Amino acid sequence: MQELTSKRLYFRTLTEEDATSTYADWLNNPAVNRFLEVRHSRQDIETCRSFIRACNADPGCFLFGIFVDHGKTHIGNIKLGPIDWRYGSGQIGLFIGDQAYWGAGYASEAISAITRFAFDEQGLSRLEAGCYEENLGSLRSFLKSGFSLEGFFRKKFITDGKRTGCFWLGILKDEWTNDHL
Ligand SMILES: CC(C)(COP(=O)(O)OP(=O)(O)OC[C@H]1O[C@@H](n2cnc3c(N)ncnc32)[C@H](O)[C@@H]1OP(=O)(O)O)[C@@H](O)C(=O)NCCC(=O)NCCS
Repeated sequence: MQELTSKRLYFRTLTEEDATSTYADWLNNPAVNRFLEVRHSRQDIETCRSFIRACNADPGCFLFGIFVDHGKTHIGNIKLGPIDWRYGSGQIGLFIGDQAYWGAGYASEAISAITRFAFDEQGLSRLEAGCYEENLGSLRSFLKSGFSLEGFFRKKFITDGKRTGCFWLGILKDEWTNDHL
């Protein structure tokens, strides 16, 4: 099991026991899934379990639960993957499922923690992330964590019944500093 800590958060590899109805409800909540691909299929405990199982079996993926209260309360997930080990690059995705914890800087803190893990502990050289055009919270979280805007895919997705673009962000190991932690 992998564990990480940051100033206020604790992260650990999820296990199948972490797949609760609360977790499934987060993913079915339109406010949470609005910019997530998971919105295209209904989630339940079994779909969450099988996602956790698949991630844990994949050598190109680290799926962490994000916890507060010294590891007692699960509030969301952050994933490093897919990783392309040949190129030392990987993608990051995350959600804070419990909306009571939005706007407290937890996403930025989680991105910084997993960035440090990717560069310092896994030896990766480059990280990437995509975010929907309207997802200003996500865009801002990555920028605050030191990512740069690398591109914009026009009208790539459909959400809320209309086509929408997607920002592409990246960070190189050379650019990474611990200032963001
Ligand atoms: C997007 C998300 C991860 C942001 O998490 P968060 O913990 O609330 O973000 P933070 O508190 O770290 O905020 C980071 C910055 O974004 C800003 N921000 C947060 N939500 C915002 C919003 N809806 N609109 C504009 N800015 C927003 C914050 O003010 C902060 O900027 P500041 O420090 O300059 O004030 C969270 O809302 C979420 O999980 N949403 C649902 C899933 C999702 O969209 N995941 C990302 C997929 S790419």
